[in-house]
Parts: sequence; C-alpha cells; structure tokens
Amino acid sequence: MTGETEPTRNINHVAVIMDGNGRWATRRGLPRLVGHRKGASRVREIVDLCPDIGVKYLTLYAFSTENWKRAEGEVAGLMSLFRRYILKEAKKLHENRVRVRFIGDRTRLDRKLIDLMASLEEKTAGNDHLNLTIALNYGGRDELTRAIRSLTEDAAEGRVAPEDVTEESIGFYLDTRYLPDPDLVIRTSGEQRISNFLLWQSAYAEYAFVETLWPDFSAAEFEDIVKGYSGRDRRFGAASA
Ligand code: FPP
Repeated sequence: MTGETEPTRNINHVAVIMDGNGRWATRRGLPRLVGHRKGASRVREIVDLCPDIGVKYLTLYAFSTENWKRAEGEVAGLMSLFRRYILKEAKKLHENRVRVRFIGDRTRLDRKLIDLMASLEEKTAGNDHLNLTIALNYGGRDELTRAIRSLTEDAAEGRVAPEDVTEESIGFYLDTRYLPDPDLVIRTSGEQRISNFLLWQSAYAEYAFVETLWPDFSAAEFEDIVKGYSGRDRRFGAASA
C-alpha cells in the first residue's frame, strides 16, 4: 500500500478477473491450489483497501461456469477454499462493515457452501462501508439465459408486456440487480479476454489488463491502477466537451 488515503474521482465499482494463480504455483513447482490460497490472501488486502480509496463496490470473479472443466481435485480444493474463506473472514468483514453478496447460479454448489453464502449475506446485509460481490459459478451468458427464462415466464403469465422490456427492466432480471455497472474491469496475468464476465454490465467499462499474476497483485498496484483510471474522460458514446 502507498499509505495515501485520498479518495479517487469517478471510481465507484471495480470488477476483477483474478487470473494467474495456477501459473504462479506451477512456476514455483507447487500444486495449483497453493496459488489459489495465496490468491485468497490478496483478496483480503484489496478488500481492506477499497473503502480508503473511495471504491464502494468491488466484484471478484472467483469461479466461472466453465471452471467445472478443471481437474476434480482442483475444483474440490477451490470449493473448500471458498467455504474456509467465508468461515474465517465473516467476523472481520462484518466488523469492517462490508456487505457481501454472491452472484452466479448456486444450484450446482454444495449445500454447506450455499448455506454459508446465505448466512454471510444475511449477517452483513445492513453494512455499507464496501459492497463486496463474489461471482461464484458465474457466467455472463448463463446469467442472461436465466434472466431471459424468468422474463419469458413473467410474460407467459401476463406480468410483462413487450413494451415493458427495456434496458432498465432487463437489469432487474440479472443477478447484479442491486449493483451499479462497473466503471473499471481489471484482469491480471497478461490475458486480454473478458471470459464471460459481466457481459451486459460492462458495456461502458474501462479495461485494465496487467501482466502481474493474481497472487503477486498487491494492494499498491490495485491502487495505482484505480488512481490512473480516475483521470480518464468517459463519454458513454457522446462527443467530448
Ligand atoms: C484463476 O487463476 C483463478 C481462479 C479460477 C480462482 C480464483 C480464486 C481465488 C483468487 C481464491 C480466493 C477467492 C475468494 C473470493 C476467496 P487460474 O487458476 O486460471 O490461473 P492460470 O491461468 O495461471 O492457470
């Protein structure tokens, strides 16, 4: 951390694709799960920093709908890491007035994890220092598919007419209905892809692709990127002044 606590302009919501845990571990001859564990400690540092630099919403891509294709042991290890993160961090997150919510399809997750997620959401529901959203079994296309399914069910039952379908009303069917759109999406590890993350919501987001692998991504680097971005002129399609 740089130690500066001056709030940044414009930055309300930062979303992060935390990539590179596997490579970080493999390069050191360690099992991939060690990289994920180190990655979890970076989550803690960045969560602590966000309120100090004026970031009110932080959304983290922890497990995608495609990540089930990984080796069984890695998937099981990640699920166990998520359970342990919740058990270990719940008290501190609540004391720091962090509101935690999850996006993604929970139906494929195990019962214990689903219950832990629900209890953390409930426990922290009244907090407003930082809104932390964790994307778990999340995919942008899956989210849109589930949203369209709900919308068409409502239409079939006469609750929605074609003229009611607007960009705003579609937003209410998404997992992110309570979130503003991200202002900035950061992806670590040098890959320049969005990998099915917040497809609808990132229409006007800025993107920062950085070479650093997630386990090496410090709070100071996060702060530098956010501050660098805060000076940019975002026009949302309009001409500059
Ligand atoms: C991508 O790196 C990372 C993941 C699939 C897992 C992200 C999870 C964490 C950072 C752990 C903790 C998270 C929370 C919210 C407690 P990769 O494995 O694809 O890396 P690679 O591209 O180098 O193989």
